[in-house]
Amino acid sequence: MLIEKNVPLQACNSFGIVAKAHCLVRIGSESELQALLADPESVAQAKFVLGGGSNIVLTGDVKPLVLKVEIKGRRLVGETAKAFIVEAGAGENWHDFVSWTLNQGYPGLENMALIPGTVGAAPVQNIGAYGVELQDRFDSLDAVDLNTDKPFTLNAAQCAFGYRDSIFKHQSSNLGLAGRALITRVRFSLPKPWKAVLGYADVEKKLLESGIKQPSAQQMFQWICEIRRAKLPDPALVGNAGSFFKNPTVTPEQCADIIARDPKIVYYHLADGAIKLAAGWLIDACGWKGKSVGNAGVYEKQALVLVNRGGATGGEVMTLAKAIQTSVYERFGILLEPEPVVV
Ligand code: EPU
Repeated sequence: MLIEKNVPLQACNSFGIVAKAHCLVRIGSESELQALLADPESVAQAKFVLGGGSNIVLTGDVKPLVLKVEIKGRRLVGETAKAFIVEAGAGENWHDFVSWTLNQGYPGLENMALIPGTVGAAPVQNIGAYGVELQDRFDSLDAVDLNTDKPFTLNAAQCAFGYRDSIFKHQSSNLGLAGRALITRVRFSLPKPWKAVLGYADVEKKLLESGIKQPSAQQMFQWICEIRRAKLPDPALVGNAGSFFKNPTVTPEQCADIIARDPKIVYYHLADGAIKLAAGWLIDACGWKGKSVGNAGVYEKQALVLVNRGGATGGEVMTLAKAIQTSVYERFGILLEPEPVVV
């Protein structure tokens, strides 16, 4: 087990923020993790689990011992009349995994193509796009409790998934597992027979343009990749963490109040009667698109995405985020909640 010192983290976070890990260990397998946890020196050390770094804002050097999860492997572990059960190591790249499942003939993840990050990070914030969330395709996961060193398995109900939320984002004081669980493997249940999930405006536009009525999973995958590339920045070229804020939920009364003032507001009705507002629209309406604070900016094509214009610090990103929160709050009375974890 090698403990690396003063490791640059710029390439380990999709925002491309410059920061260092005082100490970092690469975890390539469950046995490597057990060896680390059995090591008397690291037992007492505070630990920080790092996946693909696609949903974090680093505001300085990371002092806790960084556990960089690099557990690999992808395989079919079961098949029933209703689903393929496919497992991946937490360190697998998410998009490569989606692509692999399609090539193997196990469709179902195509609407979540091109989401940056790793498989192990996907359940943490219950990633989702174009009408499919991780929880819709989730079977179970394996993790290790960093406090007790014990491995455990959770099913979907135990993960307490919500919109960009799970038990892994909540502190132990709220019965959560934040900072405590290291996810090692995730299993997906990919339903049979496969059926395209349509309905999103961008996808419907592709159907109309192409004249295709029943797209294949590969066709959906290609469309989703095209849609995302057209409106979201590629983190390899422009540092970002995807949507920076969650889409807020309001009551029909609150929404009616906003519509009375801003008839153009974009909103969606949820099954439970609540209404979800497009945070990107709210931010855009406040004039933030293309604006910057220092080297942190608001992406020109999608106001919900904050970007690193080159050399941005985590402090600059958070200053910009707070300024956006303030102006959206002053105009609409809504406090936007950030999606990424601030470290
Ligand atoms: N809009 C604007 N101006 C903007 C941005 C958006 O007016 O600058 C309007 C759009 O015209 C559209 C609406 O807001 O009518 C919604 O925009 P979009 O379809 O781009 O989706 P979103 O709500 O901004 C969410 C997810 C994305 C996911 C897409 C597609 C959240 C926080 N974001 O974005 O997820 O890819 O839907 O399903 O739920 C992520 O979480 O990192 C992420 C990229």
